[in-house]
Amino acid sequence: CTIAGILVTKRIKNRRKWSRVVEILSEFEDGCSTSIARLRQVVDAMAVEMHAGLASDGGSKLKMLLTFVDRLPDGEEKGTYYALDLGGTNFRVLRIQLGGNRSVILKHEVERQPIPENLMMGTSEDLFDFIAMSLKHFVVKEEGSEQRPDRSRELGFTFSFPVRQVSVSSGFLIKWTKGFAIEDAVGKDVAQCLEEAMTRRGLDMRVAALVNDTVGTLALGHYHDEDTVAAVIIGTGTNACYVERTDAIIKCQGLLTNSGGMVVNMEWGNFWSSHLPRTSYDVDLDDETANHNDQGFEKMISGMYLGDITRRVLYRIAQESDIFGDAAASLSAPFVLRTPLMAAMHEDDSPDLREVSRILQENLQMPEISLKARRLVVGVIDIVTRRAARLAAAGIVGILKKIGRDGSGGIGSGKTKGKIRRSVVAIEGGLYSGYSMFREYLNEAVVEILGDEVAESVVLRVSEDGSGIGAALLAATAAHSSDR
Ligand code: GLC
Repeated sequence: CTIAGILVTKRIKNRRKWSRVVEILSEFEDGCSTSIARLRQVVDAMAVEMHAGLASDGGSKLKMLLTFVDRLPDGEEKGTYYALDLGGTNFRVLRIQLGGNRSVILKHEVERQPIPENLMMGTSEDLFDFIAMSLKHFVVKEEGSEQRPDRSRELGFTFSFPVRQVSVSSGFLIKWTKGFAIEDAVGKDVAQCLEEAMTRRGLDMRVAALVNDTVGTLALGHYHDEDTVAAVIIGTGTNACYVERTDAIIKCQGLLTNSGGMVVNMEWGNFWSSHLPRTSYDVDLDDETANHNDQGFEKMISGMYLGDITRRVLYRIAQESDIFGDAAASLSAPFVLRTPLMAAMHEDDSPDLREVSRILQENLQMPEISLKARRLVVGVIDIVTRRAARLAAAGIVGILKKIGRDGSGGIGSGKTKGKIRRSVVAIEGGLYSGYSMFREYLNEAVVEILGDEVAESVVLRVSEDGSGIGAALLAATAAHSSDR
């Protein structure tokens, strides 16, 4: 038992541990593969599921919900409108003044607040009272001495959960997503719940438009650029909507609109296909969430989950090796690693990954780890983010394919007289707008799938605050049509 002998044994043991880490990592990487062939299968599956969801209710995991939005803002809107945006980490209230001249939003005030966690699991009355109260404070502050008792106020209510709409201004909650769980609200008309709460709080305001956040984003996108055909949210949750021809919405035969089209809220977070690259970590995460077996696509892509997938892989490594010292306990708690921290670590470009080290120590109470181990953390983050971004890209191309704008030939292939029609997709949400690696991976994958020539006709455009401003614009459009 010489010292040299001990050192050699230690080195062999370390090598074994490291090779186990490499094994775990490469198994994970293989499981997350998003080769171009696989992405194409996801594109096709998305387009097929869209057809199925439009054919009948329950025909697909994609709900393909009607929104009753058949006219998008065109820039003629005038007046002062409010919007309330509920559905992400924060909720926002805003007020805009429209001058009737495209792209001129005269005034735009926003206030954001986090939603207290207890309200996300309490009763619907508590939640709606809280938001009605915050809205009232905002109105009083904004209107100040301009307040007039005879003034009627119109509100665009962005409610970012699956809703079965019965008109542009009302709809029933189908289920909660993204960690909300207020049982008694399911099945209720959420616009009515809000109006009742506003009445209780003495606020005179009418819900003129009830919209999903994707629909708000599409409305603002279209306001700025008429070639906008779809909108995607990649934030706490993920979803998309697009303009569909009414005659393609088979499940609602006879649906007539002036424009011949209607915005469809896909609820793509619930998309599922056997082609999705799913790992055992995804299965475990799903098992431990309240909405088990639901929102499978969302759980691979959105901000609520990416940090936790990463944490699960790191936890496994910590359990099977000592390269993170005794960090297993710090990594055992679900959701301790939030996606913004993950993004910050991914974007750490210091040579010794100082930021990675700081975040792990300060936010996860992990011990100081070696540079090699820090690189490994970034490697895991990269795999998780790249898969998410590329799957979102495949989803976007799936929509373009469904509406014949992917340049693939076929009817309405998007080619007019040899030229490919320009298609704009409005995107909102922190993952795309605030996480540059995610954005790069997504953009790159769209080009990879479509090819350079077609990709040139596709514009992915960030829409800041689109979900809120767009809802106010839709309130204006709806109020204007009901005046006529
Ligand atoms: C969830 C909701 C959906 C929303 C999306 C983005 O998927 O179900 O309605 O659009 O999150 O916020």
